[in-house]
Amino acid sequence: MQKYLLLIIVGLGLTASGVYLLVAKPVAAAQNEQSSAVFDADGKLELPTGFRKWVFVGAPLTPNGLNDGKANFPEYHHVYVEQKNVDAYLKTGEFPEGTVIVKELTRVLNPTFPDGSRKEPSGRGYFNGEYNGIDLTVKDSKRFAKTNGWGFFTFGHHPMPYDKTAAEKSVTECAGCHIANVAATEMTWIQFYPLLRDKKGY
Ligand code: HEC
Repeated sequence: MQKYLLLIIVGLGLTASGVYLLVAKPVAAAQNEQSSAVFDADGKLELPTGFRKWVFVGAPLTPNGLNDGKANFPEYHHVYVEQKNVDAYLKTGEFPEGTVIVKELTRVLNPTFPDGSRKEPSGRGYFNGEYNGIDLTVKDSKRFAKTNGWGFFTFGHHPMPYDKTAAEKSVTECAGCHIANVAATEMTWIQFYPLLRDKKGY
């Protein structure tokens, strides 16, 4: 009799943990699939938080010193993509719906030469200075069908604090150039981001 009781108790325990696994797993998966793109009632996009801890895929630099002293974006362009979206891209060559790509500008650190560079123990060059603005793209094939499935936003080109929300930018200001050059590669300049380009995690 006691033996049966023990079996029943063990059985109940196993069933309970089974139920827990069944219930808990889908909840966790649903959370992972949430997009960082949150739109308010007017269709404005909220600036995502925590993006500096996403995967840092690259940092193009177009300094004033190489652009007649007047580059449009003389800062480093730090580009971030969430881990789950990087993983999906490495598997499929496509970003999932809802993917957000952040490009945060950081100024070159206090220049001492006319070309914007300075000297540090490692040599003469460019080093990261202050944060100076955010451009961002969102993949949403329905909402942004007119611009090849991606929306373009800017939260300011200036030091922090950044704007908290942003309206979609026009085709002329943003999407047009991406459509003309990188329509075939997810509207993104994959060729400048070694992890995405070479598809080799390490
Ligand atoms: C004249 C062409 C051109 C225009 C206009 C343009 N971009 Fe880009 N964009 C680029 C290039 C080239 C890169 C990659 C190299 C770099 O950052 O210098 C880039 C990179 C980006 C990235 C990083 C992800 C990626 O696609 O590689 C974002 C985000 C971005 N642009 C958003 C914007 C937004 C928002 C606007 C409008 C405010 C805009 N862009 C206007 C050419 C352009």
